Amino acid sequence: MSQTYINQLDSHVGEEVILKGWLYNTRSSGKLMFPQLRDGTGICQCVVFKKAVSEELWDSLAALGQESALTITGTVRADERAPGGFELDVTGAEVISAAHDYPITPKEHGTEFLMDHRHLWLRSRRQHAVLKVRHTVVRAVRDFLDNDGFTLADSPIFTPAACEGTTTLFEVNYFDDEKAYLTQSGQLYNEATCAALGKSYCFGPTFRAEKSKTRRHLTEFWMVEPEMAFAHLNDVMDLAERFLSYIASRVLADRQEELKVLERDQAKLEAIVPPFPRLHYDEAAKLLDQGFADGKLENKFVYGGDFGAPDETFISSHYDRPVMVYNYPAAVKAFYMARDPQEPDRALGVDVLAPEGYGEVIGGGERATSLDFLREQIALHELPQEAFEWYLDLRRYGSVPHAGFGMGIERCTAWMCGIEHVRETIPFPRMLNRLKP
Ligand code: 4AD
Ligand code: MG
Repeated sequence: MSQTYINQLDSHVGEEVILKGWLYNTRSSGKLMFPQLRDGTGICQCVVFKKAVSEELWDSLAALGQESALTITGTVRADERAPGGFELDVTGAEVISAAHDYPITPKEHGTEFLMDHRHLWLRSRRQHAVLKVRHTVVRAVRDFLDNDGFTLADSPIFTPAACEGTTTLFEVNYFDDEKAYLTQSGQLYNEATCAALGKSYCFGPTFRAEKSKTRRHLTEFWMVEPEMAFAHLNDVMDLAERFLSYIASRVLADRQEELKVLERDQAKLEAIVPPFPRLHYDEAAKLLDQGFADGKLENKFVYGGDFGAPDETFISSHYDRPVMVYNYPAAVKAFYMARDPQEPDRALGVDVLAPEGYGEVIGGGERATSLDFLREQIALHELPQEAFEWYLDLRRYGSVPHAGFGMGIERCTAWMCGIEHVRETIPFPRMLNRLKP
């Protein structure tokens, strides 16, 4: 008799097998009991005939609480009506660890309660599906970049200075009296590694002391950041378009079961194919003005500013696929952005806005190459010159046009899954009001 996994039952039809897992749910009709076992690969309905097992076994199974750990032995039977397509006719079982009063029951719980029990909530069908999709997003990201000539070069987490503005820095005590900051982005280091490797990327946790309580913000999130030497804004947009299309196609190909559990409208994912519309900031601003005039937007957009979440949602509602907005006013963008020679007050930056209200999933652009210009910008942004001397070396020694972007894994995963909030897309979310469990 062989031990197997629920997602491999199809190759064991008619055989007696052993499954190891946890009791997901159970119901009984006197003569029959239907314990549902989950093992991480799926959920299998098991069928226990009272007459087919010992009284002792029947009683012990009947007394088991949700999430008890057990081994179940039985014969695999194909059944079209069964959730995974197979059922197990039980011949034996062994309790590994009995559980009682599992706090999360099939009834509705509030979000705060579920978040407090995140360590257990992860076992539920929907959370399991979301984590599987996240896994596929991450694999797709790595496969795409690795196959596209990028080399992984990880950037540090302890950093001496800000990358994305000083207002969202987490400060930590380093040794003696030195201060360090948790990285907001590996980009500045990517600029160094791409000069060594041509095309490089970093992929790791990033931190933002965001005081915003929105469905898109975490204080700790995972970002993948590719950077290319000898590249311009258009190259970044081309890359973003191929990158997101590939991720969506992989999720569609590899996560059918999960997308069904999540009731994801798959047509929305199938629409994510090149070309993505490219919209100048001014054109986006015109759309917003029109939206306000038509009463579709509550607040008038202040030209020159950054887009708010409702603005992003409105802009993207015009398209069935991501839209790339470029050439933002330099004043609302980071210090390192290159300027458009045709429009010197504009940054050669792009935000990729996902459809369905998911907002910005990618931010990036072309980097300034001039030593003098960057010195000025560092001073203007009141950043400590000294901490950026190494960065300025990249402009002293072989400065070339280069460009890249960053994508937040959680925002991308929420979008792929079609779920409301990024907090469900990472095993243990960190937010303004949540550091536990
Ligand atoms: O637009 P951002 O701030 O860009 C950068 O950090 C650049 N240095 C990246 C680069 O060019 N290498 O962040 C990039 C992406 C956003 O589009 C979003 O997907 C995600 O990171 N992101 C967040 N995700 C969750 N919670 C937050 N607080 C996030 N802030 C940014
Ligand atoms: Mg951004």
